Amino acid sequence: MQVDMKKMAGERAAQYVKDGMIVGLGTGSTAYHMVNAVGQMVKNGLSIRAIPTSSATEAQARELGIPLLTIDELDHVDLAIDGVDEIDPQFNAIKGGGGALYREKVVASLAKEVIWIMDESKLVDKIGAFHLPVEIAQYGAKQAMARMAAFGWNPVLRIKNGETFVTDNGNFIADLHLGAGFNIEQVYGRLSGMLGVLEHGLFLNMCNRMIVGCASGEVRIIENPSK
Ligand code: 5RP
Repeated sequence: MQVDMKKMAGERAAQYVKDGMIVGLGTGSTAYHMVNAVGQMVKNGLSIRAIPTSSATEAQARELGIPLLTIDELDHVDLAIDGVDEIDPQFNAIKGGGGALYREKVVASLAKEVIWIMDESKLVDKIGAFHLPVEIAQYGAKQAMARMAAFGWNPVLRIKNGETFVTDNGNFIADLHLGAGFNIEQVYGRLSGMLGVLEHGLFLNMCNRMIVGCASGEVRIIENPSK
């Protein structure tokens, strides 16, 4: 029997959403299932308010009748639930495959508790085989790409449907091809504050737990001992 690992993880994570919470709703194909499950819980009487991390999730949540806040209307988030592209045993994650990394990082940073949801393919020994998304300003994008290329990071401007991909914030994405085992702290340090860079997709030790859907049909819950 084929199991839907993303659906299992998303639906399990929704069980952590409780009455009265302000909930960060992530972006992507795994978060999609979590948002659907939360929408069903709201239909059944759950009272929450939510902050979406992208226009796609916002549209989905509205359709489901989940009450939404804007980012300026809140000073904290009780629980943020979102997907990841890769995560290592030290809870270092790459996010932003869907291009929503900036809002995802803002929301997760405000959260008292963070849950990353995924299928088991996202668990890796060392992150970096997946490209690292970096959100860059359109103005001066070529120069920002050159700055990143000078470090040997192999940046590629993201294209979608034949057009340069534009984020919900009106910026471009440079995908860095670093390779598994790159120096995480060095890249993090160099990207933070680099001219032209709004934010990058390194989410280091931010989650309290991972919820992993497995091909066996099991859902693994991995608690972060440092949180
Ligand atoms: C979007 C993200 C997603 O959470 C990440 O790409 C995982 O997506 P999926 O659940 O579709 O595999 O960071 O910016």
